[in-house]
Amino acid sequence: MILGKWMRIDLSGKTALVTGGARGIGRQICLKLRSAGAVVIINYAKSAEAAISLQSEIGHGTDIIKADVSKEDEVGAMFDYIKKTHKKLDILINNAGVIKDNLLAAMEMSDWDKVLDVNLRGTFLCSKYAAGMMMANHSGRIVNVASIAAVKCSRGQVNYAASKGGVVSFTRACAVELAPKGILVNAILPGMIVTDMSARVRKRAGDLILSSIPLGRYGAPEEVAALAVFLASDLSSYITGQAIPVDGGMTVS
Ligand SMILES: NC(=O)c1ccc[n+]([C@@H]2O[C@H](COP(=O)([O-])OP(=O)(O)OC[C@H]3O[C@@H](n4cnc5c(N)ncnc54)[C@H](OP(=O)(O)O)[C@@H]3O)[C@@H](O)[C@H]2O)c1
Repeated sequence: MILGKWMRIDLSGKTALVTGGARGIGRQICLKLRSAGAVVIINYAKSAEAAISLQSEIGHGTDIIKADVSKEDEVGAMFDYIKKTHKKLDILINNAGVIKDNLLAAMEMSDWDKVLDVNLRGTFLCSKYAAGMMMANHSGRIVNVASIAAVKCSRGQVNYAASKGGVVSFTRACAVELAPKGILVNAILPGMIVTDMSARVRKRAGDLILSSIPLGRYGAPEEVAALAVFLASDLSSYITGQAIPVDGGMTVS
């Protein structure tokens, strides 16, 4: 049936790279991309064990590669490997991210630099190399995992908010530049999602946060992954340059 076929997300024949794919939201994105049929390359920086275990859980159709996304030599080597081994790249999910929260007056330069380096510079570097590969096929999808921190600010997150705001502006600029090359670029703005990253703040301010979420609960990594897979697929063929919240209504309350 035509409608049934159209509604199904089918990524068979596609190759996808997920940065920070071994844990948290990235892990769920890897699982969903693979179950939609894509070959999935799982990037990790420190979590070798988690990456290996995810690869063996998924089995066939996966690869793992270590690279710190904030270091150009490591990103360059990762893309050289992808070119050599997989020949092409159809989907890039810039998911790798860190937080180093502190109040502005107390923030160390190293905490500012680390967050900007991984979240913004890492997104730039991976997009630059991926776009080079995608242009050759005149098609591609780049999905940047930003945050609602780009639009709704919390105390102690000037570095994180600046990095994710930068990712959103970067997304828009890339979308304009890459549209004539057949490459669509969008961002996801997760709200409070249950992963290691949000554990401390959920423990410290859980009740307050829950009261600010219209749906009355935290999000699951799978709920972010669902949008990532949609944006990576042909179903999103007329959407580019957008920043879409997955936040239980937090940004509209
Ligand atoms: N959880 C939330 O509530 C929430 C809300 C809004 C936005 N986000 C965003 O969602 C994304 C995923 O976060 P998460 O919640 O899944 O956090 P997480 O569980 O802490 O995972 C972070 C991931 O980023 C990777 N990473 C960190 N530094 C890296 C580097 N230099 N190079 C490559 N990979 C690196 C980690 O890999 P290794 O362990 O291998 O270092 C890990 O896989 C991040 O961009 C985050 O900012 C999360």
